[in-house]
Parts: sequence; C-alpha cells; structure tokens
Amino acid sequence: MKDVNQKRLNQEKIVSHLNLNKNLRVNLEIFDQIDSTNSYLLKKEQSINTLNICVAEMQTKGKGRSGKIWESPKNSNIYLSIGTLLNKDISELDGFSILIALNICRALKNIYKIRAKVKWPNDLYLKGKKFGGILIETKVVNNKLALVIGIGLNVFMKSNEFIDQEWTSLHIENPLLKINRDLLISEIISEISKDLPIFLKKGFKFYKRDFEKLNILKNKKVIVSNYPSSNCIALDVNDDGSLNLLVDEIKRKVSSGEVSLKIQK
Ligand code: BTN
Repeated sequence: MKDVNQKRLNQEKIVSHLNLNKNLRVNLEIFDQIDSTNSYLLKKEQSINTLNICVAEMQTKGKGRSGKIWESPKNSNIYLSIGTLLNKDISELDGFSILIALNICRALKNIYKIRAKVKWPNDLYLKGKKFGGILIETKVVNNKLALVIGIGLNVFMKSNEFIDQEWTSLHIENPLLKINRDLLISEIISEISKDLPIFLKKGFKFYKRDFEKLNILKNKKVIVSNYPSSNCIALDVNDDGSLNLLVDEIKRKVSSGEVSLKIQK
C-alpha cells in the first residue's frame, strides 16, 4: 500500500523553501534514478561560490563509506549530494563531515523537533540506531578542490533485508509525523550554505562545543579497528575533529580517515 506521506520529490517546493547564504548560487537537479548522486557530481564541473545539488528518488550504485553499498530503494529516502569548488587544501577540511552531521541534526530539530545524535565522524543516530550517513569525496582540479558532500537519510524505509547492521528510519521512530522530503532537503541545504563559509574561515574548532552535545560516543566502550583486542573508551574531540580514546588506560588520538569504530553492546 502506498504511504500517504510519500510524495515524489518536487523541484519547485525544494527551491521555494531555500533560505541561503546570499553569496552562494544554487543549481538543483532531481533524477528519478541515477547510479550515485555523489558519482554524478564528481564527474560534473564544480565552481567557486556555487552549490550544485543532485537529488535522486533511487540510486542503483549508492556508495557508503569504506567501499560499502548504500541501500537506495525508490521513493523512500533522501539521497542528496552537494558539490562545490574550493580554493582550499584538503588538510583544511578536518572535521568537515562532523559539521555536515550537525547541520542535518539542526535541520531535523528546526522543522520536526526531532533530536538526532551523531556518531563520530559521520553517522546519524536516533534511539541508538543509525538512520543516516555522510560520504565526503574530493578531487583536485587545477589546484583547486572539488568537494562533494553525500548525504543518505532513511526517511520512509520500513524494511530492508540487505543492511547488515541495526538501522532505523525517521518514519519508524516517528510514525505519526508527516515528513516532507522537499522541506527537509531544503532545510539541510540552507543550514549547510550558512555554515560552509564560517567553517572555511574558522575551522572545526568553532563547532566543537555544539558537537559535544550530540556526541553519542562520549564515555562509551567502543570496539576500534586499530586496537581490536584492547579496552577502548571514547572521550571528546579535538580542535581538528580527531577523537580522543582511552586505549587500555592510555590516551590516544584517532582521525576519521584511519579508523572504524563500533559501540560495544
Ligand atoms: C555511510 O556509509 O554511512 C555514508 C552513506 C552516504 C550515502 C549517500 S546517499 C547520497 C550520496 N550518494 C552516494 O552514492 N552516497 C551518498
């Protein structure tokens, strides 16, 4: 049976809700089906002060982190990528995925009062289960950095036999809420457009306190790929977005590219 909440994505509605930083231009493309919104924008030419947005109803080769597949069934979720060109080096983007996670949490709180949390460095959680993820990809073009921010959020999905970890969706956790994907996409883009210029000037340090309020790993026992047979406890984050851990009682620092991490049950 078709869910009453489930409407097709509507370009005009997304654009009409946008509340953007006025120094940025936006181009929006919506596809019924695409291999991956990230792959599409990585191939497309990016420009300074422009956000190229690609949204799809379905992805045939949705990409997750660490080479995993991102399950992307039709009409049920948000598959959103935002591309731009920066006069920056990749080293200046430390902690950037955490900023995007914060923007998504803010968007959900602003329009639906949903209080999502962040699992460092780029997973979105509700009631202890993952409902969204972020995949940042970059490439160097003529000494500039083409940046693609990929966001996958489970919105209406109720079942999926292919996901190999505990997961949830906005609908599962809030069955009475009428979620409008157009509005949510608009709000996420608007939040990112406001924070992107600030992040590029001030770095992650400026957002560290906000993140700590949403950090679900803090003081939790974790299983860490780099230290598989040690007792690890996650602590806070540093100004560069790296995470402090207590590994067998010794304080160590790990950065997002080098580690994968699970909460111990
Ligand atoms: C993760 O593994 O948690 C990151 C998932 C990122 C999925 C999104 S969906 C939109 C964009 N296009 C992709 O192919 N992947 C990202």
